[in-house]
Amino acid sequence: MPGTCVIGLQWGDEAKGKLVDILTGEHDVVVRYAGGANAGHTVVSGGQTWKLSLIPSGILRDGVQCVVTGGVVLDPASAIREIEMLESRGVSVAGKLQISDRAHVVFPWHIAEDKLLDGSLSGGGAIGTTGRGIGPCYRDKVGRALAIRLGDLYRDDLRLRIEHVAAFKNRLLAAGAPGSEQPVTLDAGVIHEQYLAYAERLRPFVSDTTAYLLDAVEGGGRLLFEGAQGALLDIDHGTFPYVTSSNSSGVGVASGSGVPGRWVERVIGVVKAYSTRVGGGPLPTEQDNAVGLHLRERGREYGTVTGRPRRCGWFDAVAARYTARLSGVDELAVMLLDVLGGLDELKICSAYEIDGRRVTQFPSQIADLERAVPIYETLPGWSGELADVRREADLPAEARGYLGAIADLVGRPVSIVSVGPDREQTILRARPTSRRPPWQASQPSPVAGA
Ligand code: GDP
Ligand code: IMO
Ligand code: MG
Repeated sequence: MPGTCVIGLQWGDEAKGKLVDILTGEHDVVVRYAGGANAGHTVVSGGQTWKLSLIPSGILRDGVQCVVTGGVVLDPASAIREIEMLESRGVSVAGKLQISDRAHVVFPWHIAEDKLLDGSLSGGGAIGTTGRGIGPCYRDKVGRALAIRLGDLYRDDLRLRIEHVAAFKNRLLAAGAPGSEQPVTLDAGVIHEQYLAYAERLRPFVSDTTAYLLDAVEGGGRLLFEGAQGALLDIDHGTFPYVTSSNSSGVGVASGSGVPGRWVERVIGVVKAYSTRVGGGPLPTEQDNAVGLHLRERGREYGTVTGRPRRCGWFDAVAARYTARLSGVDELAVMLLDVLGGLDELKICSAYEIDGRRVTQFPSQIADLERAVPIYETLPGWSGELADVRREADLPAEARGYLGAIADLVGRPVSIVSVGPDREQTILRARPTSRRPPWQASQPSPVAGA
């Protein structure tokens, strides 16, 4: 069967872009199916660094189609900037990129609303969004009345639609939030002109990607699904309300792309060898100390999209085990292992203590997660550099021990290890042969009556 998924199992920035680039050669189509220009995926090759937000990371390779599906919220200005950046650096996009006519379009009112509403959570506090209009655009998609899709940009009534929505949005933005700055006023005529120009620029890329992908899988094409964000930012299953507005865990692949889950053969869960998070919300293993500083500086943990410093902490196996199960993960890719070099000892969170109880199930309520005190396993660190290691056998014994502990605690084998940002700085291990997890092999069914 033809599908592979790459899903971030933490709070995003797990180096999904690097992994997708590596796996692209084994696939015919690379598919972005959720999120929008909030994503920032980095690929480093031959001394060059590429940062992609909307266009699949597969675009840097030849002989592959790249598809942005209807599950993505599309900021046309960002997409055009990215296309132009690629073309100016010698990467041809023509004939390689398709964007769904079903994708919902991000408008200036979404960005204004994002800025207006972040900081106004009903329970107090701020999500710390990327300010790219993601939440408001998905809200209008679900609300329907004020939504405009990419296909609508080519209709004769576009101006009327924009005037209709802008009138509503101007009233909303004028109401503002308490203490907010002067409200933004949207000029429907200017926006219409601007979006007509965007539509013309994007016209060669717009298609019915659902039909295309269904034809591709049914014809035996090999699809690579590029997750955006991380499973803990999933709107339904993440650390709500400190999440993004799409299904960023594995559950979003089918709904976002239109390709049924039965076509997915391999699910790779991507983790950093430690934890990071940008924006608000609980991070139980956060290290606001010398360890956190080590991780931030060695890992260059500053946001790809916003430049914000990322919060850093130890690897959280309670969280990763939850998201590995949630996303149907077969195997793990452990990235940025090199960043841990130079720490005397390493810690992995194997359980939480909540109100005096030991808990291994990831809490569904944010209030419980906020009170969770990590219980750690302590492992020895290593001092050498890993940047030049290409074989598992050449890793220090402590690094192999650390990977073994992650596999045991998360409950999935580690098949890929990354020791630097470059494509080449990767160790591929033997892949698991069976999809049936080992702990299920000889157990009776736990379902009553089955
Ligand atoms: P994504 O959003 O999941 O694609 O990840 P980002 O690109 O936002 O962040 C990952 C960062 O780590 C990027 O700057 C990568 O170049 C870098 N990176 C990827 N793999 C490694 C690695 O193994 N070691 C180090 N030190 N950096 C890495
Ligand atoms: P990639 O694909 C890390 C975070 C934001 C904020 C929350 C909601 O590069 O891993 P949003 O703008 O989506 O409404 O913000 O989600 N966030 C990410 N954090 N990596 C990302 O993407 C993210 N996309 C959104 O920082 O906390
Ligand atoms: Mg990123």
